[in-house]
Amino acid sequence: MQEGEEQALWDIFYSAVHDVAARHYSQSQLDAWAPGSFDRNYWVERMRKLQPFVAQAGDRIVGYTDLQPSGFIDHFFVSGEWGGRGVGTALMGHLLETAKLHRIPLLTGFISLAAQSFFQKFGFEIIRHQTLNIRGVEIENALMCKTL
Ligand SMILES: CC(C)(COP(=O)(O)OP(=O)(O)OC[C@H]1O[C@@H](n2cnc3c(N)ncnc32)[C@H](O)[C@@H]1OP(=O)(O)O)[C@@H](O)C(=O)NCCC(=O)NCCS
Repeated sequence: MQEGEEQALWDIFYSAVHDVAARHYSQSQLDAWAPGSFDRNYWVERMRKLQPFVAQAGDRIVGYTDLQPSGFIDHFFVSGEWGGRGVGTALMGHLLETAKLHRIPLLTGFISLAAQSFFQKFGFEIIRHQTLNIRGVEIENALMCKTL
């Protein structure tokens, strides 16, 4: 991600939650996860800390993910408009290559119901299910991991 692209990543995040994850969660869960209004400064700071990789189609950002030095994947989102067209696979390929390059032995992430099968396809296993409380609403996801 380059500086100035933070808003584009919010749009991807919002679309991935409200268009794609909508099949797995209720409207109140989706609104708690990705609220209609957001604190722009907080989001910009958060994205700069994550240092995400972006996937582009032409000059448009269509998905993003991150890989922390610990092997933790915090965000993994593809715009609803671009779902099912290989963007997630491309991001995962880059993520796995980067992890190998940096000799990261274990990848982990808290993965939503909308992405667990996708992660399983790439060899991630569910370690445990958990229920989070985000903005007063309970949301289920799972800790998943993959040994490299
Ligand atoms: C999960 C996600 C990243 C997949 O991205 P994508 O660009 O649609 O994935 P691809 O087009 O590369 O699909 C790759 C394969 O995974 C499959 N797949 C994609 N999403 C899937 C899902 N939710 N469940 C099962 N299989 C899925 C595709 O059918 C495809 O299979 P194939 O290669 O056999 O045809 C995307 O759907 C997303 O952003 N989901 C919502 C956000 C989310 O929950 N992110 C995780 C936060 S922790």
